[in-house]
Amino acid sequence: MSAPVTIASRFADLLGITHPVVQEGLGPYRTVRLAAAVSNAGGLGTVSIPGVSEEPARGAAILRGYIEETCALTDRPFAVNVPVGTAADGEVLPFSAAYVGAVVEAVRDPEIARRLRMITTSAGPPGVVRPLIAESGLLHAHKVGGTRQAIRARREGADVIVASGYEAGGHTHARPVHTFVLGPSVAAAVDCPVVLAGGVRDGATMAAALALGADAVALGTRFVASRDNTDWHPAYARRVLAAREGEDITFPAIYGPSRALPSRGVDELAEIVAGGGLDLAALTAWKDERLIRAQRDGDVDGGILPAGQVSGAIDDLVDVAEFLPAMVADAAAVLAALNARTRPAPPA
Ligand SMILES: Cc1cc2nc3c(=O)[nH]c(=O)nc-3n(C[C@H](O)[C@H](O)[C@H](O)COP(=O)(O)O)c2cc1C
Repeated sequence: MSAPVTIASRFADLLGITHPVVQEGLGPYRTVRLAAAVSNAGGLGTVSIPGVSEEPARGAAILRGYIEETCALTDRPFAVNVPVGTAADGEVLPFSAAYVGAVVEAVRDPEIARRLRMITTSAGPPGVVRPLIAESGLLHAHKVGGTRQAIRARREGADVIVASGYEAGGHTHARPVHTFVLGPSVAAAVDCPVVLAGGVRDGATMAAALALGADAVALGTRFVASRDNTDWHPAYARRVLAAREGEDITFPAIYGPSRALPSRGVDELAEIVAGGGLDLAALTAWKDERLIRAQRDGDVDGGILPAGQVSGAIDDLVDVAEFLPAMVADAAAVLAALNARTRPAPPA
């Protein structure tokens, strides 16, 4: 057997990890075991928030519990993802402030700070929570779906940009810019490490992302369908494996479009929104409950199942400890094989 390889990356150097591979935030779901498995495999796992409709203090306490549990399962670096919600006046919403506060508070404990190295904000612009993060010692990544947002996030203090293409699972972006177009534009526009997400599933797609200028890749849906994702009902991963190419949909998910697999839950949400009977808070709580129902109870019909377009191309469950280093080795092999095809062009 050949010696394990990795691919040099300023992102991996910054985080102190072996492989430039991230398991991205998968809220409102518990990702403690998955995050630990990815970090233990040499990548960067991400703990996710329990939901946006959770009472802020209770949500913060649950998140703190997740962070402590993850620390008990891995000695390696990991991250936490917090979507940033803002009110019409630009003020940060209480749930986001509480979750960011919980992360910043957690790294006051040196045992946690040794492992919890990065916070990844997403959704709204990062500037509103930047003062909370700036003095914490945490690296700050921000997820964007457009080049202008990337430039703004960098200007507002983000250390890392996660660029996620429109094909990504979960909340996607108002403007449908796909990974192949977004990656090179963001990589050219900012001077910090760029992590590319949306459609990455194997060595070939990782090699493609690196060729587009990314320093690292982030995967969501691929890791959902892994044997290490034991915090989720197995029916969720089975539904991802069963998804056919092009079956995924985007739907108006209250705060913007979200990509998911079709379900009665998605249809019912549309009916409730059209009926206009619920206010924003009740609607958000209803949606969170249907999201959780899919993951906790395996209700793939009445639940809502965020998943990327890549779900139509995933047909096996993987073991993270084997999959992750093999994906990196495959990416290196793809890049070497392409390089070996270089030859002088015949004279014109
Ligand atoms: C089930 C699920 C839940 C997600 N929840 C979040 C979230 O809470 N916050 C966030 O920033 N992104 C979320 N995402 C997006 C992922 O972090 C990641 O950007 C995306 O999955 C990458 O695209 P891929 O699915 O093609 O790998 C979610 C994605 C999925 C599939």
